[in-house]
Amino acid sequence: MNTVITGLQWGDEGKGKIVDYLTESADVVIRGQGGNNAGHTVIAKGVKYVLHLLPSGILWDDKVNVIGNGVVVDPIGLCIEIERIEGQGIAIGPEKLLISDRAHVVLPFHKELDAAREISLGDQKIGTTKRGIGPAYADKVNRCGLRMADLLDRPFAEAQISRRVTEVNEILAKYDLATFTAKSVIEETYTAFERLRPHVTNTIPVLHKAWKAKKNLLFEGAQGTLLDIDFGTYPFVTSSNTTAGGSTTGTGLPPTAIEAVIGVCKAYTTRVGSGPFPTGDESLSEYLHNLGREFGATTGRPRGCGWLDTVLLRFACMVNGVTGLAVTNVDGLDEYDELKICVAYDIDGTRHELPPPTGLSGIAPSPSMKPFPAGNRTPPPASATPTSRKTRKLTSPASPNSATHPSPSWVLAPTGSRRWRCSENQGAFAGMMGLSQPARSEGFTFFTCPPIEKRLGW
Ligand code: IMP
Repeated sequence: MNTVITGLQWGDEGKGKIVDYLTESADVVIRGQGGNNAGHTVIAKGVKYVLHLLPSGILWDDKVNVIGNGVVVDPIGLCIEIERIEGQGIAIGPEKLLISDRAHVVLPFHKELDAAREISLGDQKIGTTKRGIGPAYADKVNRCGLRMADLLDRPFAEAQISRRVTEVNEILAKYDLATFTAKSVIEETYTAFERLRPHVTNTIPVLHKAWKAKKNLLFEGAQGTLLDIDFGTYPFVTSSNTTAGGSTTGTGLPPTAIEAVIGVCKAYTTRVGSGPFPTGDESLSEYLHNLGREFGATTGRPRGCGWLDTVLLRFACMVNGVTGLAVTNVDGLDEYDELKICVAYDIDGTRHELPPPTGLSGIAPSPSMKPFPAGNRTPPPASATPTSRKTRKLTSPASPNSATHPSPSWVLAPTGSRRWRCSENQGAFAGMMGLSQPARSEGFTFFTCPPIEKRLGW
């Protein structure tokens, strides 16, 4: 089954865990947007791997991994990442990692332009990851970017880089930031590109061939819906379409290739960087940070934390067309006797069940919140004990109910070691959302429910 994994909040929903879970049954794992602003940690056989640009299937011997045309690739950053992962004993040959020749290149000056833009915004800054993502996408849209294929034509690439360096230096000088010489940019970029050259190819026919051969395609979304350039909390967003649609424009596979969209959200909400956060809650942030949770994988920044926001979740489910929901970090709220969920916004006396395009900054600190009792503290049934994850099936165990409830299914995915406590809160969470009797399998608890439209009310 060709499945998109998409974040339903501001990124960091634990998509990596779900991708990891589904990768075993996938043949090809594909990134279609974003760049090395993304970061997720996978722990396999006790070893910790941090991935930024490399798709998760890279940790497996038998998966093909594709960095699609919609991704912006920092060749220097990617080489460092490949070296690090290879240093951990994972081979990354050209048959295992394919990079689209249409993918745009993040050049060294894009990072400085990112910094310059942040300085110019002052207290309105976006809080970017400073990986040069916005400026690289801006050059793409402004039709002055450089693609991987362009690097294959060195005279063309050198002329293009030289032209941009002249323009960029003028901007950087204004902010007293380091300027560049075309020579150094060309040399650094080509040193990295030579390492990547065997991986660069036209990935579109490769993906179509895999699709026609009925291979399982897994689209690994980066960031989350509220960071989407069109649907997010603009301008406090990233520069790509992080929603399910980005999986098609960013890979060359058509919408008809997609069979399932799994939306991932936490049982609460987090965000890094600036921008509105209606359900943000300082004491919840402090509680989770004290547990050592909620620090960014890419920048190490502490994430702001808040209660679950179903106004945003409802919208995210709509625009992604989710067919299944994975709720992660349910155990993070173990110590709370009462959990809060935001069910609507009250803006100037008007109730909003969908987020308006502006004005979210004004909603603070407590939109319409409903308190829900958490699970009681009795030990879990024996069936809640996690079992090893030997077999991972894309459609199991939600599929037995698919005849009565064709879509979508809900999946609650616990994390952490104190799993029996999670199962209590899973029960509470299921109660809140009106979900059906859970089915347990492989340490995960799956819920099916009537169509999500009814559950989330639109
Ligand atoms: P940029 O993508 O570096 O331009 O950053 C724009 C916004 O997206 C900032 O608020 C970042 O914190 C946020 N962002 C980018 N990538 C991620 C991610 O992988 N997880 C969470 N937030 C992200």
